[in-house]
Amino acid sequence: MSEVTMEKIVSLAKRRGFIYPGSEIYGGLSGFWDYGPLGVELKNNIKNLWWKMFVKERTDIYGVDAAIIMHQKAWEASGHVKGFSDPMVECKKCKRRFRADQAEGPEGTRRVGGKCSECEGSFGEVRQFNMMFKTHVGATEDESSVSYFRPETAGGIFVNFKNIVDSFHPKLPFGIAQIGKAFRNEISPRDFVFRAREFEQMEIEHFVRPDEWKRWFVAWREEIFMFFETIGIARDFIHESEIGDGDRAHYSKRTIDFEFDFPFGRKELCGLAYRTDFDLRAHTETSGVELSVIVDDATGEKIVPHVIEPSFGVDRAILALLTSAYTEDELNGEARTYLKFNPAVAPVKAAVFPLLKNKPELVAKARDVYEKLKTEVSEIAWDDNGNIGKRYRRQDEIGTPVCITVDFQTLEDDTVTIRNRDTGGQERVAISTLDSVVRQ
Ligand code: GAP
Repeated sequence: MSEVTMEKIVSLAKRRGFIYPGSEIYGGLSGFWDYGPLGVELKNNIKNLWWKMFVKERTDIYGVDAAIIMHQKAWEASGHVKGFSDPMVECKKCKRRFRADQAEGPEGTRRVGGKCSECEGSFGEVRQFNMMFKTHVGATEDESSVSYFRPETAGGIFVNFKNIVDSFHPKLPFGIAQIGKAFRNEISPRDFVFRAREFEQMEIEHFVRPDEWKRWFVAWREEIFMFFETIGIARDFIHESEIGDGDRAHYSKRTIDFEFDFPFGRKELCGLAYRTDFDLRAHTETSGVELSVIVDDATGEKIVPHVIEPSFGVDRAILALLTSAYTEDELNGEARTYLKFNPAVAPVKAAVFPLLKNKPELVAKARDVYEKLKTEVSEIAWDDNGNIGKRYRRQDEIGTPVCITVDFQTLEDDTVTIRNRDTGGQERVAISTLDSVVRQ
């Protein structure tokens, strides 16, 4: 098999309607990406599987969908106003800015030997650059109206801790989950959707007794592997990396990064952190609202729980899936490219074709099959464009697990051919059993 490169993935993603550059007709906007029809389906499948596994199928995790823009004090309390920054250098001559700890500058420009790649100018002192996007809320633009687009979805969870406790009276341990957008004004957005300025996270803050954090940390390691297996990334492809003192986020006492071999190297796919009681205490102090739970109803004893946080990036999961699914092989003597998606995440589960487009009786029968299947398995595509070989190639390239063809024999015996994406093998099945065959 030939090498999977970023060029091949980015090109397929754009050509087939998964991911487009943001604001493309204006030349693009670095760090922003738009998901096309197939990208949205892929994304929704990942998010729905995550929500099902961690919220719907559990009784101890509560879902929220909090506002993206929060009170400025929330980000002061969480330490992000002061400490959510990356080291940055600026070229004294052309004023371009680069992330100080990276060999490459923005938009792939190179920074060689401490000189600016654009103009060979020298760099000034390393400064800290806060990555939060700032905005003003309301009609007045002064310090009091400053707010921020959330840099992590976790913030919206912590500020709702008391609401969940008051509404549902959960006993420890319990968690709060959220899926949503996060924003970081990355100095050097790069590697397609890997390091974007607008991206999506799926996060859980799991509140536990302080003396039980180690046990829950271990349990969540396993849950993370299980989630990736569910979407089609086997545990052998994920590598744990313990983050040392000094390299962890300001709130974490222990962090493991779960890494994946992307075409540009082994990099973080998701993270697991032990956030202690840092956030609940900080918000209590800044807001004046006590964030604790009663652990003994008889005595009314309260504690501030500690937090284990599994944090997943949706866009990085998509990039890992595209990387691991991308396959080039030869089928019936012809080169082909296909996405070997796990059917659970495939944007289209099956495509229905009439063998010939100019035979009204075949088209009518195929339409019947399509309409019926669509009511049972929703993500079904119709394709009558070009010859059958081209249709197979098109569906292979977007990762459709099976293609169903209505031919002349169908008109006689109500059977169709069903073709497997990975093997190219075909079998005949009765239309009456099609629904269960496709589901299987
Ligand atoms: N609440 C913890 C937190 O936000 P993080 O390691 O900064 O931790 C968690 O981010 C996950 O969010 C990462 O593992 C990654 O999947 C995703 N992520 C972070 N920054 C990103 C970016 N600039 N572009 C795309 N995904 C990003």
